[in-house]
Amino acid sequence: MKVLIINGPNLNLLGLRQPEVYGKLTYNDLLSYCQKEADKLGIEVNFFQSNHEGAIIDVIQDSYNKVDGIIINAGAYTHYSIAIMDALKSVNIPTIEVHLSDIYKREEYRHISYIKEASIASFVGLGFEGYKKALIKIKENIGK
Ligand code: DQA
Repeated sequence: MKVLIINGPNLNLLGLRQPEVYGKLTYNDLLSYCQKEADKLGIEVNFFQSNHEGAIIDVIQDSYNKVDGIIINAGAYTHYSIAIMDALKSVNIPTIEVHLSDIYKREEYRHISYIKEASIASFVGLGFEGYKKALIKIKENIGK
């Protein structure tokens, strides 16, 4: 089982960016955490991070027929990228949305998620654990 974990803009700056919101652990810490959890579940995991909307769309399109699931934290694109939502709907790969913070308890402009519309589940406000729950959920979903 193959899963692609996509992280969008500014998530490469984890640890540095607003630690009071996102914590002190770095993007590399997130990758190690996800790799460890994926190994436990027997999932082959690949990672992609970009600050560019088009690059995220390209990697989603390239995943068609190649991965069994996508986990995506689209960062701020979550709140306005109809294009990323359309790409996810186009490839029709089971997708789980993740956010480190609880977007529904933050500024009103973060309450809308276009990614949610293209996802089978969302995990918000759980920090790194959201990615673990997403891996478990994808595995359960694919087993069905
Ligand atoms: C985020 C929440 C978004 O609103 C924000 O723009 C991010 C990170 C999160 O993981 O909590 O970049 O997706």
